[in-house]
Amino acid sequence: MGRRALPKIDPALDLSGHFREAEQMPVPFDLLSLFGRIAPLEVEVGSGKGLFLSAASQAHPERDYLGIEISFKYARFAAARLAKLKIPNSKAVCGDALMLFNKWIPDSSLAAVHVYFPDPWWKKRHRRRRVMNEAFLKDVERTLLPGGSLHFWTDVEEYFQTTLELIPQACKLSGPLSVAERAPEHDLDYRTHFERRTRLHELPVYRAEFRK
Ligand SMILES: C[S@@+](CC[C@H](N)C(=O)[O-])C[C@H]1O[C@@H](n2cnc3c(N)ncnc32)[C@H](O)[C@@H]1O
Repeated sequence: MGRRALPKIDPALDLSGHFREAEQMPVPFDLLSLFGRIAPLEVEVGSGKGLFLSAASQAHPERDYLGIEISFKYARFAAARLAKLKIPNSKAVCGDALMLFNKWIPDSSLAAVHVYFPDPWWKKRHRRRRVMNEAFLKDVERTLLPGGSLHFWTDVEEYFQTTLELIPQACKLSGPLSVAERAPEHDLDYRTHFERRTRLHELPVYRAEFRK
């Protein structure tokens, strides 16, 4: 399934409170300057159109959410969604999540890491481009707080099984805990746009949670 063209962002919308490029992130890592407070932080890798960021941040105003998205136009689209709703506790960052995890996010600083429907890189010779790789999983373990969770959902059974086998080799996260499917209560009541699309096509979604 390909991706449709994104609707245009209203040029009058001020994205300055919700959009950053990776190079503009505070160095060293500083939550106070990012969100104006210190609160539990959850990071989403590959936030796409930002459905998870907007729903989760509104459901949990006591937490902060950072979506890292490598595509400039998707990161800006997610930021526009957050800006339109004036959500104070969520931002979209344009950059490579693997690099930001490795070089920028400190040890024991995250309450949760979310990876939903990462690009599958179907061809065997491209598999090393997958985000759920050994180095990233080690960074997830390092950056999670004790008790923090890794959420991983995909529609690709092979990617799911490979990752479930890789996690115990790469790190000491415990799991997988199974995650139940929920019936949606409205048209956008899905974890992400890719979950919505997969479920509307009546295809299976593979979900797991791991804990540090
Ligand atoms: C298949 S889409 C899924 C988007 C969203 N998570 C969802 O479920 O609707 C995967 C997203 O991950 C992004 N992505 C891929 N590699 C990335 C990386 N290294 N860092 C940040 N984002 C990445 C892609 O640009 C794309 O938007």
